[in-house]
Amino acid sequence: MVRVSGSGVVVAVLVSLTDLDNAARHEVDAARSGARLAALQGATLTPLVRMLDELAADGCPQARLVAVTTAARETGPSWVRRVAGHWVRSSAATRQAAMRVQTAVGAQARLDPPTLTRLQWRDVTGDEAPLHSPAWSEPPPHDRHVLLCRGPRCNARGADVVAQALTEQLRRAKRLDDGVLLTQTSCLFPCNRAPVVVVHPDGEWLGPVHPEDVPDLAQRLL
Ligand code: FES
Repeated sequence: MVRVSGSGVVVAVLVSLTDLDNAARHEVDAARSGARLAALQGATLTPLVRMLDELAADGCPQARLVAVTTAARETGPSWVRRVAGHWVRSSAATRQAAMRVQTAVGAQARLDPPTLTRLQWRDVTGDEAPLHSPAWSEPPPHDRHVLLCRGPRCNARGADVVAQALTEQLRRAKRLDDGVLLTQTSCLFPCNRAPVVVVHPDGEWLGPVHPEDVPDLAQRLL
């Protein structure tokens, strides 16, 4: 465990599902530098709020959260502050002792002391943007909702590559989240057909969908 400012704990927070695809490497990096590892999304790593609960329960006086992402989009790291701000607000009444929470943005989970001193740290006060917004009460207008299985069998058969390729093609066609909602899920059950993709409202169950099938699939969705 990395000790900073006397007795704080460093937590590398993986931001996107793409970052989770490289969780094993991040895990090794974090372990080498003594940092803990948490995630904003998915079910494979400790969620950030649970990690903060654990640290506070252990009497940790300071949690330093590094948003780790290699994703091209810049919005991800801001969610570490939103979620941490939500935790500070919602746990204020129950925390035995106030735990100082800070955030910074990094590119990797190897967080040795020189790296930590180079990062720009900001305190989390509870005044951060909330988890809700009027814009998020309804799904955006869409023609199709695509469920892409990221369960263990589908992942083992290349669902991560299918997800990246399909996301990229839909984004290039300006149809991602705007016409086609793409949702990555855990096991959808017909694992023998992995990687599995379901298209609604057609009710079509497709599989196996290999990376080389993605151009055709994207074309059908556009
Ligand atoms: S793991 Fe994908 S359908 Fe079961």
